[in-house]
Amino acid sequence: MIKAIEERRTVRKYTDQPVEEEKLREVLASARLAPTWANKQCWKLIVVRDQATREKLAQLSNVEASEHYPNPGAKGLAMAPVVLVACADPARSGHMYGQDYYLVDVGIVMDHILLAATEVGLGTCFVGVFDEQGVKDLLGIPSHIRVVAMTPLGYAERWPNPRPRNDIGEMVFEGSWRQQVS
Ligand SMILES: Cc1cc2nc3c(=O)[nH]c(=O)nc-3n(C[C@H](O)[C@H](O)[C@H](O)COP(=O)(O)O)c2cc1C
Repeated sequence: MIKAIEERRTVRKYTDQPVEEEKLREVLASARLAPTWANKQCWKLIVVRDQATREKLAQLSNVEASEHYPNPGAKGLAMAPVVLVACADPARSGHMYGQDYYLVDVGIVMDHILLAATEVGLGTCFVGVFDEQGVKDLLGIPSHIRVVAMTPLGYAERWPNPRPRNDIGEMVFEGSWRQQVS
């Protein structure tokens, strides 16, 4: 588990090597075990294999109006043989003190997917920037469902080097805000 956490990378370039069905099943089986608000399991995953549909998803992830344009992760959606699209029904999750927990539910399931994929040798890229309505129209997703994230799933052209992280002392406080951990 810790090895997979340490080895996971955001992969943005893929080969066209097919993803074995057993590996996909393993990733989906790990997703299924993710914790959710009140165990409501508010999310659904759409497995997209069709090349033309993946190319449209790549276009929809390159939103010119976004401050994140061009989206470096968009091309991978067209390159990898499989894309997983994570959706959620907000009414089946919690909303308290202004926090929408369906986003947390999907965040956790995405991490299960990313880590399980790493474990079986597959690359992923959490893609959070896309034209949501365009994706809904493309995949026939009902209006009350939110599309939260997607990821390509496939074999990396090259496994990237680790990206930098802040030191623990910069991100973890001891006891109260800003008390440094030694
Ligand atoms: C909520 C969220 C949204 C993200 N959206 C995108 C995206 O739209 N496009 C992309 O290329 N990467 C996206 N990423 C990936 C991050 O850029 C990446 O995790 C970060 O640069 C650290 O790299 P690493 O995952 O290899 O450690 C997203 C990650 C998260 C958690």
